[in-house]
Amino acid sequence: MAESGPLRYEHYHTHFDPDAYIKTYYSVLDGSVLGGATPFILERQHDIFKAGDVKGKRLLDIGTGPIPQSVISAVPFVQDIYLTEFSASNRKYLHDALFGSGKQDYSNIFKFVTDLSDKSQPWTKLSEEFKGKVRGIFPCDLLKDDIFAGSYFPLFDVITTSFCMDAAPPDVDTYGKLVKKVSKYIKLGGHLVNVGVLDASYYFVGEEKFYALNISADEVKQFWKGAGFSIRSWEHKKGSAECKDADFGGTFVMHCIKES
Ligand SMILES: C[S@@+](CC[C@H](N)C(=O)[O-])C[C@H]1O[C@@H](n2cnc3c(N)ncnc32)[C@H](O)[C@@H]1O
Repeated sequence: MAESGPLRYEHYHTHFDPDAYIKTYYSVLDGSVLGGATPFILERQHDIFKAGDVKGKRLLDIGTGPIPQSVISAVPFVQDIYLTEFSASNRKYLHDALFGSGKQDYSNIFKFVTDLSDKSQPWTKLSEEFKGKVRGIFPCDLLKDDIFAGSYFPLFDVITTSFCMDAAPPDVDTYGKLVKKVSKYIKLGGHLVNVGVLDASYYFVGEEKFYALNISADEVKQFWKGAGFSIRSWEHKKGSAECKDADFGGTFVMHCIKES
């Protein structure tokens, strides 16, 4: 019998448990989980936005999933935030958490990011500002030609995306094609912040093993440069060999600018 392997993108509709995902990867924000990958990405994203020169009117987040962590540091520096997500169940989870009766309030993530700038502020201030700027939670499938399923978007000033570009493509060549598709949605001079994993093959969400693309740092950088971006910063943290939830070799936070 053929071995089935990790679950692929289509299983995000049916097998991805948002609470299990958040519990595993976002509930403990110290060095004890995944070798400290989560505080690392939150701190590096905050570093990129804190000086105030990475800003604009409209921000697009690609593959928000059930948690908007990739956007939180950008909130004070943009006006309109467009969240997008592949799975209908994650879109519902996100909607219920932000605007409905969901129990999830992302308080530990908002508190962590708030404390990076000003410990005297309540986390709810940033959370309310975020909710006030969200203009919608839209469908997105990076593998389709029309990735936003008919939603028309003018070009964005800022694009963020986290652990999504490496969840969708079946191989490295397709990753390159997705980079080109995404690059069509950003203005010249616009900023893109991409968080991802390197040299990975899977990660667990509860009992379910999901596929992750095995891609190197050089390949990631070459694809974005090839799509007209210059890389302004690249921060990398090695993965933890003891981690049982995922097998990634490292996590990166890349900030680049669309030049051509
Ligand atoms: C590991 S989660 C990342 C969620 C969140 N952005 C984060 O930083 O934790 C991977 C995300 O990629 C999305 N995804 C999977 N296949 C996709 C596709 N074909 N197009 C767009 N997004 C996809 C999933 O629905 C899921 O939300």
